[in-house]
Amino acid sequence: MTVVDLINLEKYPILELDAPIAKTLVAQCSHELSKTGKCSLKQFLKPEIAARLAAEVKPALQDAYVQVMQHNVYFKKDDETLPENHPARHPITTSQNALAYDRVPADAGIRAIYNWKPLRDFIAQVVGLDTLYLHEDSMAPLNIMMLKDGDQLGWHYDRADFVTTLLLQAPETGGRFEYIPHLRSADDENYAGLSELLADAHPEKISLASEAGTLTLFQGIFSPHRVTQVSGATPRITSVLSYTKQPGVVFSESARKQFYGRAN
Ligand SMILES: [Fe+2]
Repeated sequence: MTVVDLINLEKYPILELDAPIAKTLVAQCSHELSKTGKCSLKQFLKPEIAARLAAEVKPALQDAYVQVMQHNVYFKKDDETLPENHPARHPITTSQNALAYDRVPADAGIRAIYNWKPLRDFIAQVVGLDTLYLHEDSMAPLNIMMLKDGDQLGWHYDRADFVTTLLLQAPETGGRFEYIPHLRSADDENYAGLSELLADAHPEKISLASEAGTLTLFQGIFSPHRVTQVSGATPRITSVLSYTKQPGVVFSESARKQFYGRAN
């Protein structure tokens, strides 16, 4: 099977981006992304393919790096000059399992999808860029993230301009993607809004139960987000596809150690 056998090209005709139907799709997705910070393409994979791609990576996930950490929403060092109850210092718990790119099986379908140029070209157009590049780090380009019973990804802002995810397996309960569109801006941290969010009382919170096979583009620099605690025997398995605006991007050794537990 090749990538064209995996993707629902009837619903999402991204092979010919100059065709009017593809231009309409790009325009709709761009509009949704700029308005809400997110664009989701349901049933991006053909039926049954998500389960098959999940099955391909499950053996490797048994040895995934267990990330258990306390952090603040910025994933930055605690600022002790601020009052103890300042929302920027609020401790948040994350526990999840991260499979780095170098341990994703060489013949896994999700690896072929990540490297498939038509997808990269489509995403570039949606985010308004001429070109996107493959991430050149040994571990960061494509990660498989697994949340088992009791795991969660705590509230945070992203550092990357946007992130692309493809959900391979939905859990039975929990594992909802939640976010507040544009809570902060480049010139306003909006700590009052952040306090509301951390008290789980923000009126604009959006909470979504995603379906396996959904491709999502998300801009998380200004929109804090989390994945709620998973419960039940079925883990949430998602793939995170990282593309870059410039060629040659790699992680630092310390970032690799933080996210994958090893530098090489
Ligand atoms: Fe994120």
